Amino acid sequence: MHLLAAYASIASALTLACSALAATPVVGGYLLLDPVDGPSKLQALAQNAATVPINRLYLSFASPTLAYVPGSNTLQYVGLNYATSGDYGFADIKTKVAALQAGGVEVFLSVGGWDYGCFPYMYTYYSIASYGATDNSNYYEITDFGGLANCTIANQWCYTCEPQSAGTTLANFAVFPEPSYSSTWQAAQKYVIATAGGDYPVFHPNLNPGLQWTDTNNSMVVTVPGDNYFSTVNRDPYQDLVYLAKDLGLAGVDIDYEEMWHADYFRNGPSEGPWTNYQTVYKYSAIMKDVLLNIAAIDPTLKLSTAAAAAGGDSSDWWGGNLKDIWYYVFKFYPDLYNGIANSGGVNIMTYDLSDNESDYECPTPTACTLSEQVQYYMNTYSANGMSAQVGYEIGTPAYPDPTHDPTHQLPLIQSELTTILSTFGANGGFFWELYKPQGAPTNVEASSVAQQICKAALGSAARCSGTIPQPGGAVVSSTSAGTAPTSISATQPTTTVNPTKTTTAVASASPTSPPSSGCTAAAWSASTAYNGGAVVSYNGHQYTAQWWSQNNVPTAGAPWTDNGACSGSGGGSAPAPGSCGSTAAWSSTTAYNSGASVVYGGYIYTAQWWTQGDTPGSNSVWTKGNACSASMRRRRLYE
Ligand SMILES: *[C@@H]1O[C@H](CO)[C@@H](O)[C@H](O)[C@H]1NC(C)=O
Ligand SMILES: *[C@@H]1O[C@H](CO)[C@@H](O)[C@H](O)[C@H]1NC(C)=O
Ligand SMILES: *[C@@H]1O[C@H](CO)[C@@H](O)[C@H](O)[C@H]1NC(C)=O
Repeated sequence: MHLLAAYASIASALTLACSALAATPVVGGYLLLDPVDGPSKLQALAQNAATVPINRLYLSFASPTLAYVPGSNTLQYVGLNYATSGDYGFADIKTKVAALQAGGVEVFLSVGGWDYGCFPYMYTYYSIASYGATDNSNYYEITDFGGLANCTIANQWCYTCEPQSAGTTLANFAVFPEPSYSSTWQAAQKYVIATAGGDYPVFHPNLNPGLQWTDTNNSMVVTVPGDNYFSTVNRDPYQDLVYLAKDLGLAGVDIDYEEMWHADYFRNGPSEGPWTNYQTVYKYSAIMKDVLLNIAAIDPTLKLSTAAAAAGGDSSDWWGGNLKDIWYYVFKFYPDLYNGIANSGGVNIMTYDLSDNESDYECPTPTACTLSEQVQYYMNTYSANGMSAQVGYEIGTPAYPDPTHDPTHQLPLIQSELTTILSTFGANGGFFWELYKPQGAPTNVEASSVAQQICKAALGSAARCSGTIPQPGGAVVSSTSAGTAPTSISATQPTTTVNPTKTTTAVASASPTSPPSSGCTAAAWSASTAYNGGAVVSYNGHQYTAQWWSQNNVPTAGAPWTDNGACSGSGGGSAPAPGSCGSTAAWSSTTAYNSGASVVYGGYIYTAQWWTQGDTPGSNSVWTKGNACSASMRRRRLYE
């Protein structure tokens, strides 16, 4: 390289580095709108714009099926649930946006979230019911209702998007459409196809919100969730989002894409897994590209941010049930797209709703189980690949795991964990869900305090970092009220009646590549040995004590065995630990298996009870079904 050119490139690299460093970190808070108290909350925030401890507000959620004609000044077809008549809150929001931004808080509109990306039928048949099989024994969403046969559209296929208590109907849900008639969507598709690095991209415009779709895999005709108004008027929601943002005077738009159903259904790979989920990489990338093309054409100052799954930066094999590795491949195939978002509004990682249920292998590694350790682990998957990303925090009771089914493995944001996370990531800013979410338990850090602490870590002594989140009507929740904040709203009771449950959710995959050490000292259980009461055996990384005599009775948590819990330390369990599918070979129809041999099939570990060959796991009693390879195959339940 010529010396001058080298100097020039060093200089421009320095300029780039400096401008990147100079950007003010973002302290973002989501505001979940509803017609009952959304307007008063937004009013309180707008009135206190100069002193709220955030510098970005995300209004949530608009539907991915939104339609907005430029200049029409109505939110009627936006799905925002802010108001239910007139201009549906357009003028009111526009006024509040101006006040907030004048006070130094940039306002974004977020599209998607859990409900506006949820397709109950797909979860029922392809995520929960063991990928189209009739075996759904591990999933309480279905077993609570008596099995798959009892699940219908009327009960939203047994409440796989939201629990029955949320009172939802199919009308509460939507999917992200593929508006094939739109020229910018077509351009986005071309962009995706041009540098696709995995399977060839196949788009599915026939999965059209509000219309019927035939699932040829299951010979069923189902209604795709979502309002189809936008398609009846041939509009592209990703373009209309930009028109709407411009007319509202917003600083940016945000895409919160959580379509795990899409990855589960369009997965590719051997039947026993693991799989690739390239088609979901392509769909998400096309959506983002369509938005960016429209930003460039309509309102180039508009920023674009995205929420991303905690496991999304991971590059390893995928066992279904989440959006693992999606952003890793977005970055790999479309680095300019990923970096364009990261340098615009940012990539916000939903590093919450994590669990330390080790029997389900929900810690990404056996040594990363606390909230802060898991946050560190998942953020590292992003940074190790040079992917810029921000940490996400959740106020109050986590949405996962469902406390009625697993009350002991939630990882709420308590002060010690917040302190640890901030010490590593705080200077970079972050975002939290959600501004008015109840504290849930006295030991959880309440919203104003979380916001203040993120704010101080990112913005230092900025005056707003001492402010509080204003309560509608004027009352202010003080950050010192930790012990007195409401604890009465239980995690199982939605707090509003209208559209109460939308949320962002992180779905982290337990990476099945590193089996935990077992450390069991008791002899391995054997199907052929008779055990008397009091006998202790090792099985699947746990030790069990016999309650009474038995033979050929596989140890489970129930009688005749008592589960003494997981063995810790290193050493010798003879059966593979649950979840360790990465090191357990896939079942092969031509291999002969002896009693005790373990294989992976359909995302589960199976153990042979006696010699077998050619018997497909799950279809023959010689195989005992064990844990799922990835706990994250379990569906998330959301309580907001
Ligand atoms: C499931 O359906 C069967 C047959 O209709 C019914 O008897 C049973 O009560 C249902 N189970 C539940 C839990 O609803
Ligand atoms: C649907 O059927 C196709 C063709 O048989 C198959 O390749 C694919 O794996 C099936 N998908 C699911 C989710 O079962
Ligand atoms: C968590 O672990 C327990 C065993 O400790 C298990 O029985 C339970 O099903 C798990 N919970 C969830 C929600 O998966």
